Amino acid sequence: MSSEPAIAIRGVGKHYEIYDKPQHRLWQSVFRGKRQFYREFWALRGVNFDIQRGETFGIVGRNGSGKSTLLQIVAGTLQPTTGEVRVHGRVAALLELGSGFNPEFTGRENVFLNAAMLGLSRGEIEARYDDIVAFSEIGDFMDQPVKTYSSGMYVRLAFSVSINVDPDILIVDEALSVGDEAFQRKCYARIRTIRDSGATILFVSHACAIVLELCDRAVLLDHGEQLLLGAPKPVISYYQKLMFAPPEVAARLREDFRAMDTQTLASQTAVDASGSNSTPEFQAGVAATASSLVPVTPADPTPSPSERFDPNLVPKSTIVYPSRGSRIENPRITRLDGSPVNILRRRREYEYRYDVHFDQTAQRVRFCMLIKSVTGLELGGFATPLGQEVPIIRAGSVLEVAMRFRCTLAPGVYFNNAGILGEDATGVEQYLARMIDAVMFRVEPEARSSLTATMDFLIEARYTAVQEAL
Ligand SMILES: Nc1ncnc2c1ncn2[C@@H]1O[C@H](COP(=O)(O)OP(=O)(O)OP(=O)(O)O)[C@@H](O)[C@H]1O
Ligand SMILES: [Mg+2]
Repeated sequence: MSSEPAIAIRGVGKHYEIYDKPQHRLWQSVFRGKRQFYREFWALRGVNFDIQRGETFGIVGRNGSGKSTLLQIVAGTLQPTTGEVRVHGRVAALLELGSGFNPEFTGRENVFLNAAMLGLSRGEIEARYDDIVAFSEIGDFMDQPVKTYSSGMYVRLAFSVSINVDPDILIVDEALSVGDEAFQRKCYARIRTIRDSGATILFVSHACAIVLELCDRAVLLDHGEQLLLGAPKPVISYYQKLMFAPPEVAARLREDFRAMDTQTLASQTAVDASGSNSTPEFQAGVAATASSLVPVTPADPTPSPSERFDPNLVPKSTIVYPSRGSRIENPRITRLDGSPVNILRRRREYEYRYDVHFDQTAQRVRFCMLIKSVTGLELGGFATPLGQEVPIIRAGSVLEVAMRFRCTLAPGVYFNNAGILGEDATGVEQYLARMIDAVMFRVEPEARSSLTATMDFLIEARYTAVQEAL
């Protein structure tokens, strides 16, 4: 394999002529170079970096900073005004809505057209067609023109084509925010598989947490300029600092960023993202009484009316691993009284249950669970500790496993894995059964939540006046 980068971006700029009135465009063509009726606008200027093979690379920046423009240039759907982009490998691009498909053609025709443009032969496309349709969940609508599709359907089909053509380079522009969580989870699972297979991924997202989680490196674009390039953590921290800075501070920050070399950035692990060194001001009187604003509610076993079971909350990304002597059946979440729920309340207790059918006798058995986010981030789990294994379970036995947990998660959607570990004849521990994304659940939104980010650490706040001004 050659050591050339997957994507080489050299001095790329994109210039637009902005005409304030439609007639100015006509006048310009009449007057040619003698007078100028347009304003110069550089959507991108002097962008210069390489993306290595196998890298997952994030682009961040405010609205209008040039992210989509850069992706379009890399995907080859837009010509740069200056510079060039060299791309090695098959590029599948999921760009902003409105590009990619011909609205008059049916879903089926667009799949064939799109995949052919990506270099697949008719035979190859036919072989993958059913997978593409199955992943997209478009069903009978495949024979309708895509102009009749909802934006969610459109993205599902476009994404399905992109990931089923074995891309060397996958380009994704924000698009995954469309669609329900079950579909998003399926997409992120596939993106991780594509990444693990060694493909290069170029990714735009406003969700900093996703860039932090998925990307090896990131670039910050600002008014079309490549302002920072490096490890995702410092790039995101500085980006947030810039976003929340008042204009005069932002101008100074930009200068600092330009002066910062890549090595400095790479050596940074944590940066103050708030951009603020001020301490909160308290008003006299208000702060004088120390208060605990967030009482930690003890887990309450009585059913809450908002907890319920929604039959539509079914994962689409479930994978059942081939059995090695046992099977996991009927994974579910219940209240402590055993009634099924999948809409949970924060800070209450539940049980994750599944039945295990032992088709073969198993030794030194352990039971596992893992809770993940929509993007696949592993948030927390459990495995029977070593030393507490069940020594032997005879063939033909059925066991119900119930794992009690406290829902210390922010409102949102989550997925649970299930797994059974046991020893084979040679004494080596392995999975006897495993189910990825076995169930999904939603933590109910809250009108007045004190929680930020994903985990609820049962934080309690106390305010005490240290000095009182009159
Ligand atoms: N065809 C065009 N003619 C003139 N200006 C354009 C054109 N296309 C894009 N621009 C401008 O180029 C700038 C960069 O646009 P781009 O779509 O790349 O931003 P972005 O970073 O993707 O923003 P967002 O976060 O909103 O998706 C914007 O100011 C936009 O108005
Ligand atoms: Mg964009």
